[in-house]
Amino acid sequence: MTENVLQVEGLTKTFGTRTVVDNVSFEVKRGEIFGFLGPNGSGKTTTIRMALGILRPDAGSVSILGLPPYRNVLKGVGYLPEERGLPRKTLVLDAIRYLGRLKGLTFTEAEDRIDELLRKVNLYEHRKKKVETLSRGMAQLVQFVTALVHDPKFIILDEPFSGLDPLNVELMKEMLLERQRAGGHYHVQHACHVRRRGVVRACGTDCGRPSAAVRGPG
Ligand SMILES: Nc1ncnc2c1ncn2[C@@H]1O[C@H](COP(=O)(O)OP(=O)(O)O)[C@@H](O)[C@H]1O
Ligand SMILES: [Mg+2]
Repeated sequence: MTENVLQVEGLTKTFGTRTVVDNVSFEVKRGEIFGFLGPNGSGKTTTIRMALGILRPDAGSVSILGLPPYRNVLKGVGYLPEERGLPRKTLVLDAIRYLGRLKGLTFTEAEDRIDELLRKVNLYEHRKKKVETLSRGMAQLVQFVTALVHDPKFIILDEPFSGLDPLNVELMKEMLLERQRAGGHYHVQHACHVRRRGVVRACGTDCGRPSAAVRGPG
């Protein structure tokens, strides 16, 4: 595998007359936790969507796990989207298994993995409840489990701590660090305390333009 799990170069996106992502370039190295930081509206989610091939950039290129964001490459990627997408009337277990199956797991692999992950986030007892009965934080953890279910090589988390109480923030960070130690690869947005390196983007009058790349200790 290449050294970089994600490389974006010159990414640009304009909605109407507003350029919300303007010539953004950065790379995430294998094994690193990377924070992509910036105020609301500065174009982080739009950049992530282009990195995953959900949105087509107006200019620039993406390489993820060494290739453009094609479907088969994305099987190696876990994604926690900013907007919550689990079907409300579905049981927690079924909602996660459905996505695990789409990512190529067998039924049994999915069940084993879901049991293990739900125990880790203390939601095993809730596995047969409908998604709509979960609190916001619990739903966020279920979404997190969904991003990890197929044991991806690389995960992208958009606002991962949104809705979590402090204990669950710590739990999620610990699970991320544990996976990093075991050889996983993370790109964590807004994860100020677990990031090793990140890009800070300016907003305000200069909204949408990258301002500075900040290199942390790791
Ligand atoms: N599909 C879209 N159409 C028009 N404007 C959009 C669209 N998606 C995002 N925007 C706008 O682009 C800007 C950046 O949004 P976003 O990438 O969600 O920022 P962030 O994730 O940093 O908060 C915002 O002003 C937002 O309203
Ligand atoms: Mg966003």
